[in-house]
Amino acid sequence: MAKINDSFLFVYYLAIAFLVNSADANSYSTLGHDDATPNGSNFTFVCDPERYSNLGLDMKAFPFCDKSLSYDVRASDLVKQALHGVSNVGPGTFFDDLVPGSTSFPTVITSAAAFNESLWKTIGQAVSTEARAMYNLGRAGLTYWSPNINVVRDPRWGRAIETPGEDPFVVGKYAANYVRGLQDVEGTENSTDLNSRPLKVSSCCKHYAAYDVDNWKGVERYSFDARVAEQDMVETFLRPFEMCVKEGDVSSIMCSYNRVDGIPACADPKLLNQTIRGEWDLHGYIVSDCDSIEVLVDGHHWLGDTKEDAVAHTLRAGLDLDCGDYYTKYVQTSVQQGKIREADIDRSLKYLYVVLMRLGFFDGNPQYNSLGKKDVCSEENVELAREAAREGTVLLKNVNETLPLDSHKIKTLAVIGPHANATAAMVGNYAGVPCKIISPLDALSTHGEVDYQAGCSDAKCRNGSLIFPAAQAAAKADVTIIVAGIDLSIEAESLDRDDLLLPGNQTQLINQVANAAKGPVVLVLFSAGGLDISFAKNNPKIGAILWVGYPGERGGPAIADVIFGKYNPGGRLPLTWHEASYADMLPMTSMPLRPVDSLGYPGRTYKFFNGSAVFPFGYGLSYTNFNYSLKSAVKSKQIQLNKFQHCYGIKYGNDSHNPPCPSIRIDDMDCKNHKIDFEVEVQNTGSRDGSEVVIAYSKPPQGILATHIKQVIGFQRVFVPAGGSKNVRFVLNLCDSLRVVDYNAYTVLPSGGHTITIGDDIVSFPLNVSFSS
Ligand SMILES: *[C@@H]1O[C@H](CO)[C@@H](O)[C@H](O)[C@H]1NC(C)=O
Ligand SMILES: *[C@@H]1O[C@H](CO)[C@@H](O)[C@H](O)[C@H]1NC(C)=O
Ligand SMILES: *[C@@H]1O[C@H](CO)[C@@H](O)[C@H](O)[C@H]1NC(C)=O
Ligand SMILES: *[C@@H]1O[C@H](CO)[C@@H](O)[C@H](O)[C@H]1NC(C)=O
Ligand SMILES: *[C@@H]1O[C@H](CO)[C@@H](O)[C@H](O)[C@H]1NC(C)=O
Ligand SMILES: *[C@@H]1O[C@H](CO)[C@@H](O)[C@H](O)[C@H]1NC(C)=O
Ligand SMILES: *[C@@H]1O[C@H](CO)[C@@H](O)[C@H](O)[C@H]1NC(C)=O
Ligand SMILES: *[C@@H]1O[C@H](CO)[C@@H](O)[C@H](O)[C@H]1NC(C)=O
Ligand SMILES: *[C@@H]1O[C@H](CO)[C@@H](O)[C@H](O)[C@H]1NC(C)=O
Ligand SMILES: *[C@@H]1O[C@H](CO)[C@@H](O)[C@H](O)[C@H]1NC(C)=O
Ligand SMILES: *[C@@H]1O[C@H](CO)[C@@H](O)[C@H](O)[C@H]1NC(C)=O
Ligand SMILES: *[C@@H]1O[C@H](CO)[C@@H](O)[C@H](O)[C@H]1NC(C)=O
Repeated sequence: MAKINDSFLFVYYLAIAFLVNSADANSYSTLGHDDATPNGSNFTFVCDPERYSNLGLDMKAFPFCDKSLSYDVRASDLVKQALHGVSNVGPGTFFDDLVPGSTSFPTVITSAAAFNESLWKTIGQAVSTEARAMYNLGRAGLTYWSPNINVVRDPRWGRAIETPGEDPFVVGKYAANYVRGLQDVEGTENSTDLNSRPLKVSSCCKHYAAYDVDNWKGVERYSFDARVAEQDMVETFLRPFEMCVKEGDVSSIMCSYNRVDGIPACADPKLLNQTIRGEWDLHGYIVSDCDSIEVLVDGHHWLGDTKEDAVAHTLRAGLDLDCGDYYTKYVQTSVQQGKIREADIDRSLKYLYVVLMRLGFFDGNPQYNSLGKKDVCSEENVELAREAAREGTVLLKNVNETLPLDSHKIKTLAVIGPHANATAAMVGNYAGVPCKIISPLDALSTHGEVDYQAGCSDAKCRNGSLIFPAAQAAAKADVTIIVAGIDLSIEAESLDRDDLLLPGNQTQLINQVANAAKGPVVLVLFSAGGLDISFAKNNPKIGAILWVGYPGERGGPAIADVIFGKYNPGGRLPLTWHEASYADMLPMTSMPLRPVDSLGYPGRTYKFFNGSAVFPFGYGLSYTNFNYSLKSAVKSKQIQLNKFQHCYGIKYGNDSHNPPCPSIRIDDMDCKNHKIDFEVEVQNTGSRDGSEVVIAYSKPPQGILATHIKQVIGFQRVFVPAGGSKNVRFVLNLCDSLRVVDYNAYTVLPSGGHTITIGDDIVSFPLNVSFSS
């Protein structure tokens, strides 16, 4: 047992020192390099035999340094030591955050729009390589509390920028791929000893759970109590986290500030220990959002807890690490007051130390020793940032083939709008210092003579006096490119939106400029959440609209590549772009996903909202045309039940439609070998090469009450040359793909006629499921 005295605190501080070194680092852009130490500092690790020889310490003698023992045993030994002898194993230079530059990839919402799993993983690998290099240079730690994988339940949420959108399955796939890119050490991906699997860097899926209100009309995340039906919890809020743990094998989960059904997320044993550890089998530690425990005491006033009660509750619930000072200040007194046992602390410490061991803090990680300055902001990584921005660009409108522009015909360009010369706005939040930002203006200037007019002094556009000069520029130019939209002054952490409109005078700017324009008009939009731009969609003077999210440091060149046809866009919207009136139909604080017709409650996300939208989830055009045809599909599945599998009733609107064995609970089934298998041919029938995102959905049998309209079950992005075709095959798990979460929160496989649709119903086929005994 750890002695509850200074040595406990020391061991605990040690864990904190290493693990809390990059709080909230959304690692697409938090790294940098240091010109002052081009060769890097020497590599050192706790069990380096020479490290403490001058203190007369033989590190080999400590069991926690014995490489022949398992990490579990070594961590247990460490937790038992009184470690003052090694007390100068400290943070060293790891906390030096004076890091001047690193590759700033597009924000997550933009990368998500690429719908390309391999891109997500590749970005993770590039980020972790830069992280390792910076670590070697003494300029970064190895734990990154990233990615943010909360589903965007409401279009007003200020942190949509950090997330992969509104679909729990797509969000989960993003999480699994990005986490594997960050964490996996090449060659050890398939190691079966998951408690010893080495880590390149440690990643963290956050914020668990039902966290998606930041500050809306005075309702703050610190005091918000999310009232969530268990059905929505299982189906929507927890699923990305489950996929992050099970498919990504993430080494950490962060719990959130808010309460869920009255209980602070970080103090809920069902959410933490029982679900994350018990059901999902996390290999790693659970950490609080920063100062969550203090928030629990001072913000939620939960159970009238004293500080000692609070740390006892969270530790017992399964919270291993406090990003804050409550554990260091109050755990000792909590033990003295008999509120927790030392064993509770030991258990958590072991989880923390095993992660440090897997990172190589104790034994080193020689395969990364050669990484240094050359690996940060490398040409390859910067090029990847540009590629990601191009892949994430979504073409929303393109009348009469306005785009791509023909360079030869364009001599003069009017480049207009508050984001035309965007720099910081492109990299969004949690950004480090980018290697080198190239603005849209810089990139477009290489294509002709540019007349730049901001049109607004900033995104809020409160002053209309700059519109007139912008319209004058448009009247003279061969083409007008308006770069508009929102930024962190409108949607951000602690800042939810009130409406879905463009702010201030931006609508006037766009309409007046379009009206005055001599040549074609292209509108480029920055935003994370959707914007009601019906006016531009319907304005015949606006020929083309592109959405770029917040495209990172190479956003400028990516936009120019798309506009001038060097790249054919293929991204898809990762969330629904609602009409402005949607925001008046439901408060942000109402958590239910399903519509309630009697209350006029419209439901949330494409899975449940059946009204009209400006652009639906998954929308995106191309400069070419694609057509699909179904090559092969298994259209019926008969599943043999054994005597332990029982039929489970689900609610149908019409009882006479209720099949004899309506469903089987997926918990009762061994589903590994039940697959859905189909293949579609994707033909490029146009005259330009292009990439197509093929999205497959399932629709449940008709008549089941209160279920989703459809759900994404798989997606693949494929490149198809002009006139060519490619066969795309999906082999998916049957239960994952056809699942329905019922009112009691059971995940079931219904019998009957399911439908698989690909694209927006371009191709669809029935899939009949029956059970036999
Ligand atoms: C880097 O390495 C070179 C050659 O080994 C050496 O001359 C130089 O002093 C080193 N610089 C630093 C800052 O260690
Ligand atoms: C790094 O440390 C090792 C072992 O202590 C030593 O042999 C080596 O010379 C050091 N390298 C540098 C560059 O300081
Ligand atoms: C998907 O991303 C990878 C980068 O990892 C890229 O090489 C590939 O071309 C992309 N696929 C498509 C079809 O765009
Ligand atoms: C790990 O497994 C995957 C999938 O089976 C395989 O493609 C990959 O090559 C394996 N990696 C190693 C290092 O064995
Ligand atoms: C956590 O859950 C496990 C079972 O999964 C149980 O054995 C253990 O006692 C729980 N720990 C706490 C602190 O509740
Ligand atoms: C564009 O922005 C950069 C950086 O903010 C600034 O230095 C530059 O002067 C701006 N360009 C124009 C034409 O205003
Ligand atoms: C609008 O901007 C113009 C030009 O910068 C300035 O003269 C005017 O005072 C501003 N008006 C307001 C209301 O801020
Ligand atoms: C538009 O600009 C005018 C004049 O500069 C200003 O008075 C008005 O408040 C602005 N409108 C909005 C909605 O910001
Ligand atoms: C598209 O072409 C049609 C037919 O030539 C024309 O009537 C229409 O105005 C054009 N629209 C745009 C936005 O260029
Ligand atoms: C698309 O493919 C289908 C066959 O799946 C075919 O019937 C149809 O004519 C094709 N459409 C185009 C525009 O090529
Ligand atoms: C229920 O379904 C049966 C059979 O299709 C039909 O005859 C009956 O009218 C339906 N009842 C209702 C209330 O829709
Ligand atoms: C969606 O709405 C349309 C028209 O209002 C209706 O016909 C359709 O059945 C609805 N679909 C679902 C799944 O509720």
